[in-house]
Amino acid sequence: MQVKHLGNIAEKLLVFGGPYSNLAATMALQARARELDIAAERIICTGDIVAYCAEPAQTIELIRDWGIHVVMGNCEEALAFSEADCGCGFAADSSCSTLAITWYQYADRRVTAEQRLWMQDIPRSIEFEAGGKGFKVVHGSLSSINEFVFASSDAAAKLEQIRVAGVDVVIGGHCGIPFGQGIDNLFWLNAGVIGMPANDGGSHGWYMMIDPAADGLQVSWHRLDYDHETSRRTTIAAGMPEYGRALLDGRWPSIDILPEAESRQSGQPLDLPTLHI
Ligand SMILES: [Fe+2]
Repeated sequence: MQVKHLGNIAEKLLVFGGPYSNLAATMALQARARELDIAAERIICTGDIVAYCAEPAQTIELIRDWGIHVVMGNCEEALAFSEADCGCGFAADSSCSTLAITWYQYADRRVTAEQRLWMQDIPRSIEFEAGGKGFKVVHGSLSSINEFVFASSDAAAKLEQIRVAGVDVVIGGHCGIPFGQGIDNLFWLNAGVIGMPANDGGSHGWYMMIDPAADGLQVSWHRLDYDHETSRRTTIAAGMPEYGRALLDGRWPSIDILPEAESRQSGQPLDLPTLHI
């Protein structure tokens, strides 16, 4: 399936990305959704169920049993089709690439053939309407599953993609750092990820809420605190100590992919004001 259509959604939505094989974080988000009384059909994951942490198969099963909507990430695409690497788009000689080889081989040994078939059928984008606006959810960008679109990425390029998609709002994932940006009354949103800190110096992940408001929609970002100590321990025991440490100190083991603006923000708390769209 290439595009999944959800129709018009009149109730609040929860959006998150990057479970990254972090079972404890994914369980915590599921518990949060239950506390907030948000049903599975109003939850969207922007992809990369499997990546840096220790429990890829268990995290896939939790997401499948939950029954939420998922957009295919490059990690699902790579594992679904048994590709040689994660397809993150890292430069071959970068430390991101070296680290990615380790987790990808670890996950590739654990994801089952049946799970690969399930991943092949994940849609590459999701479309819906809410608050009178059209939304399109993708993993990287409209044109590339592994394009890193950050807050500091070129606004004109974002605007062009939103216009080509024919929507009011694009929700992307992949880059790992949440943000919301309005450009000429059109919007690019990133929900953030739950399975790895946002390089903001804290052990928490991030998710995004879209709530109906009197004059449109309210978009807000929220911290997800969870049992990061368990994930740190299992990730280190699985042979990925760099990612294990990052789960605790909130600093990515490599920032090769970060633009200068996001690189300067390393270790600093994020400022994510609520957006009215
Ligand atoms: Fe990704």
